[in-house]
Amino acid sequence: MLPDQVSASPRTWIIQALSGWHGRAYKWRRACTLVLTCIAFTAAAAELPSRAAIASAHPLATEAGYRVLEQGGNAFDAAVTIAAVLAVVEPYSAGLGGGGFWLLHRAVDRKQVMVDAREMAPAGIALSQYVDEQGVPVPNATLRGGKAAGIPGVPAGMVHLAQRYGKLKLRVLLAPAIALARDGFNIDSRFANVARVRQALLRDGINTARIFLDNGNPPAQGYLLRQPELAATLEALAEHGRDGFYRGAVGQSLVSAVNAAGGVWRAADLTNYKIIERPPVRFSYRGATIVSAALPSSGGITLAQTLNILEDYRIADARDPASAHVVIEALRRGFQDRLRYLGDTDFVVVPIGRLVDKKYAHSRAASINPDFATPFDTLMGSPLAAAKPESYNTTHYSVIDADGNRVGATLSINAWFGGGVVAGNTGVLLNNEIDDFSLGPNLPNIYRLLGSKANEMAPHKRPLSSMSPTFVEDDKGVLVIGAPGGSRIISMVLFGILDYLSQTKVDLLKILTAPRYHHQCWPDVVEIEPDSFSDSWRASLEAKGHTLKPANRKWGNMQAAFKSKTGEAQAASDPRGFDMGGY
Ligand code: DON
Repeated sequence: MLPDQVSASPRTWIIQALSGWHGRAYKWRRACTLVLTCIAFTAAAAELPSRAAIASAHPLATEAGYRVLEQGGNAFDAAVTIAAVLAVVEPYSAGLGGGGFWLLHRAVDRKQVMVDAREMAPAGIALSQYVDEQGVPVPNATLRGGKAAGIPGVPAGMVHLAQRYGKLKLRVLLAPAIALARDGFNIDSRFANVARVRQALLRDGINTARIFLDNGNPPAQGYLLRQPELAATLEALAEHGRDGFYRGAVGQSLVSAVNAAGGVWRAADLTNYKIIERPPVRFSYRGATIVSAALPSSGGITLAQTLNILEDYRIADARDPASAHVVIEALRRGFQDRLRYLGDTDFVVVPIGRLVDKKYAHSRAASINPDFATPFDTLMGSPLAAAKPESYNTTHYSVIDADGNRVGATLSINAWFGGGVVAGNTGVLLNNEIDDFSLGPNLPNIYRLLGSKANEMAPHKRPLSSMSPTFVEDDKGVLVIGAPGGSRIISMVLFGILDYLSQTKVDLLKILTAPRYHHQCWPDVVEIEPDSFSDSWRASLEAKGHTLKPANRKWGNMQAAFKSKTGEAQAASDPRGFDMGGY
């Protein structure tokens, strides 16, 4: 275990970069890590060759991933272990009760694929369970309890990855997570803070107080959290593969717990859960190749549209005020199409080819007024009911192994601690991903995202996502990048791409620490991180008609791994993940 639980400080970045060097014995790396905790060591870090790199939201997950590589596993094996350990140590973000996307690159044949493990709606879902006869949303129906949960995809995704792409046995890959769940781990400050913020949900939720609270109170940093029931469920998965989760005692427990909490799951919803391998979205931007998430994530298409528009402009620095105006206008148009057209392609026809077409982007670029923001009404017509923003969370990790296999994974149970339901004695905390469906044309979700018919709920459908694990391939090498953050994921990844491409010598930490702004078409405001932009920057954008809204906190917990053309690898974690920026 690393000597420090903080995954995201610059020092940890150095540690993580070093930890990627696994050509020698693990002991050597540990010794090096300990030395590094005592002295500032930047130069030495730069001198040591790393062939593999992992960045995740928790050092225990990163460490477990490296150990799998040392045991002879590949990036896909490490990805299984990291997902399982995160399910234990960061249960409020993602886990067996959630879903997500794994973007893969297999070095031997250059196969690139997105493993879609997004939650599916149960067969019994109906809009009438979430809105009343006047079309008014039933409070919290998509966010709390059994109705909020989609059928989890992460367990099936882990099994799929291990069986189809990995080298080691599932039992070996799940062992670190099982041990951490059974023996416990000391929670970090982030966990303590998240539990404090969500204490009402944890107190009122189903089985949440007995598992996550300390005698009814949010646990303090350092509290030893044991999850023996989750350990047993992970054991069942290790022993029986998919069936260990989707059938048998665990499956039955999931169905009865969800239904007791107001949901409509049937056993067949679980047994019919399908992993789908989808071709990722691939496009070029100024000579680089970008590979990103396909529908049902909106990420790849929205990034393609936004970057295609930006190709018509000179963007040296996305944060200089003139460029920021254009970036905001490009995001506005990208997100406009997200809300108009995007949904699960297994259910709706999405004009993907037209949306990502460069000619279409030229016409969209031509509609940008260089001196003034395009008002929402002229783009869209009239708005809209307000939506109350909630705290939320998700996790991303990036892995590159010594052979050049890559994984970018963004996994989620949606809001922090999901819908507040732990199913029976399974230890599985269920998601509230049903909130990512659109309840109607003027009814935004917790990320204040609007949607259209393309994203309305239906039995077996997958809700539209913003999760955007992404590869950037250029002359320098390969970047694997992604983040949690709901709709802001897309603008964060956009900045990650632009900032990376603007560097001649890669400085991952600089990319991850740079200030962020965000626009998503509606609400027609530019959210900015607090204390990050100068008065003159703000004045310049306001003069162009933009409404700027400083957020309460910085946002994001981006994780990046990079491998150069000559084979050196490095990884970095977003420092914001440490200071609660992720909500
Ligand atoms: O799939 C989505 O887009 C959301 N459910 C992701 C949630 C999220 O990233 C929250 N993170 N902070």
